[in-house]
Amino acid sequence: MIDIEKIRKDFPILNEKVYGKSLVYLDNGATTQKPQQVIDAICECYAHYNSNIHRGVHFLSNKATDIHEKSRETIREFINADSSEELIFTAGTTESINLLAYSWGDFCVEEGDEILVSEMEHHSNLVPWQLLCERKGAKFKYIPFDDNGVLSSDFDSLINEKTKLVCVNHVSNALGTINPIKDIIEKAHAKGVKVLVDAAQSIQHIKVDVKDLDCDFLVFSGHKIYGPTGTGILYGKKDLLNAMSPWQSGGEMIETVSLDKTTFNVLPFKFEAGTPNYVGNIALGRAIEYVNEIGIDNIEKYEADLLKYAHEKLSSIPSLKIYGNAENKASLISFLIEGTHPYDIGTLLDRMGIAVRTGTHCAETVMQHFDIPGTIRASFAIYNTKKDIDDLYEGLLKITKMLGL
Ligand SMILES: Cc1ncc(COP(=O)(O)O)c(C=O)c1O
Repeated sequence: MIDIEKIRKDFPILNEKVYGKSLVYLDNGATTQKPQQVIDAICECYAHYNSNIHRGVHFLSNKATDIHEKSRETIREFINADSSEELIFTAGTTESINLLAYSWGDFCVEEGDEILVSEMEHHSNLVPWQLLCERKGAKFKYIPFDDNGVLSSDFDSLINEKTKLVCVNHVSNALGTINPIKDIIEKAHAKGVKVLVDAAQSIQHIKVDVKDLDCDFLVFSGHKIYGPTGTGILYGKKDLLNAMSPWQSGGEMIETVSLDKTTFNVLPFKFEAGTPNYVGNIALGRAIEYVNEIGIDNIEKYEADLLKYAHEKLSSIPSLKIYGNAENKASLISFLIEGTHPYDIGTLLDRMGIAVRTGTHCAETVMQHFDIPGTIRASFAIYNTKKDIDDLYEGLLKITKMLGL
């Protein structure tokens, strides 16, 4: 059972006032707020053991290295990977996908090959693949979705012997759909095709188990799961990562360097060139511990209840249309108010102290599907309450009344 008042006390920013009003933060899909425990982990590192990792013989460097690698282990356990060699620290989802598109992509994709991406991807899981296809003369294909925000199940007809990779998000950041990735992975594997899962919008809401999913690659950002910005993970099966060439090069990713030749470090360090964001990575481990203390299953249950409540409340507003009505959804609602622009509604809500996202959410292909300029998105986290949803509902009622809708 979740003690929501206790959880809320962990997040100092929730005490902030905006325009003199209590903050109602419903932009968690963009980034989550940070609990004091994560803020403290950052301060503690800088105050007590700051030192570059993996390269010193001295006490502080060894301490920072140990805590950094313990953090990797915490994250490994959280996603149930076989080995921490399979977890590369990156700057976030975008960097993880670019690493793959350049390293795995340049190595594995040839002219005439095909990359299959869903129509509901965030730009960061679409543009790198489009660019790879352009570099290689490969074909960029997509899995369409229907007006409820459900991916086409006629997936088999889109895969053929030329398909090299399927790239799909676990949860859509624009529609909230939880995609049937286990099923997609099974079907892709049956045809020998690898799958990349973008877990940027699922890792903080539902259990992600890379072994159970059997995904080949999985990526997420630390800042969306209560961790610091500039952190993220690329998970990859060991044999695939071992076969890939390094992407960025420099210190730490090498084994030996001479003027004739360089050989490379073992996993995961082969893909971690230069001084890593070790303070951020350590704090990400603390964020994952924080999630473990609450329990991801408890979070999933609590947020599912919030989402159901929000759906019921918002759909009772006659001029409001929800985009994304899949049966399986995670913690966000995208909507429009008839006859208004999303920016105007977002600005009016902001004046009431309610922070929502407006625009295309870096998912322009979703907006093109519905032929709309964007949506208003309310996205939830573990510290949100039904009162936050009531405030959003009351705010929207006030706005529609004021606009005569
Ligand atoms: C589904 C999805 N993928 C990728 C990203 C990109 O994440 P980042 O900007 O942290 O790299 C986001 C960010 O909103 C997202 O929602």
